[in-house]
Amino acid sequence: MKKEITKAVFPAAGLGTRFLPATKASPKEMLPLVDKPLIQYVVEEAVSSGIGEVVLVTGRGKRAIEDHFDVAFELEEELKAKGKHKMLSEVQRIADMVTFCYIRQKKALGLGHAVLTTKRVVGNDPFAVLLGDDIIDGKVPALRQMMDVYKRYPATILAIQKVPRSQTQHYGIIDGKKIEKGVYLVKDMVEKPAPDEAPSNLAIIGRYILTPEIFDALERTRPGKGGEIQLTDGLRILMEDQPIYAYEFQGTRYDAGDKLGFLKATVEFGLKNPEFGGEFREYLRKLKV
Ligand code: G1P
Repeated sequence: MKKEITKAVFPAAGLGTRFLPATKASPKEMLPLVDKPLIQYVVEEAVSSGIGEVVLVTGRGKRAIEDHFDVAFELEEELKAKGKHKMLSEVQRIADMVTFCYIRQKKALGLGHAVLTTKRVVGNDPFAVLLGDDIIDGKVPALRQMMDVYKRYPATILAIQKVPRSQTQHYGIIDGKKIEKGVYLVKDMVEKPAPDEAPSNLAIIGRYILTPEIFDALERTRPGKGGEIQLTDGLRILMEDQPIYAYEFQGTRYDAGDKLGFLKATVEFGLKNPEFGGEFREYLRKLKV
């Protein structure tokens, strides 16, 4: 099996409890990083990596995501009438970027379950999964880097990054054997282990290339950490039949689902903004709080 990856799944049904109260009535995926919602950055990463079809797994209270990627008739008419052509084409571009398909996950039963809900839509092709909390800023989009690795290792590939030992309980952690620069053959993995139980400090970050056999594995996955059906546990089952690789991508990753991580991303993206980055830098330099 060596097929192009054209479909990407975006699990976006989570309740965003780490970001309450902001996420009480608004989806966390719509929190703006400078001037774009988080989910748009990740969709743009997928599109620039060659994805043509996005499968968004949503839930109650997530309608704003669908509206964001839809046409906005009244707004477009208004912008046309006022001659605001640059903003008009930006607004239209968002709706035209890629084909969207939406699936409602009725209950937040875990990341593995969210992926499983896409079984019929994804079908029998390898596909990507991107988590909207993880914003990755890199010269080459992180998913593109993984697709290049997939060309050499046409199998499941997990994005990983080294994290401080003290942080392992926030991630899926792999045990792997390095087979070339940045590429590991995964020997085992565990979801959110305590630092003294973690097999390494190589953490799974929210980008995956999965083979379609993951669906059968997820069907056999019992609830794990937090009583949820974990993707990590499904991957462990898949690993009994297929090799799984992990790839240390190049780029800076922000945990934008976390308040501090989100602030860091906001400051750094603000500093890089061509329109007002310079002014913002000056402002920060002079700040005496
Ligand atoms: C999920 C996965 C975890 C992974 C993390 C990356 O956890 O379950 O294995 O390391 O994403 O962001 P979550 O952060 O959704 O709890």
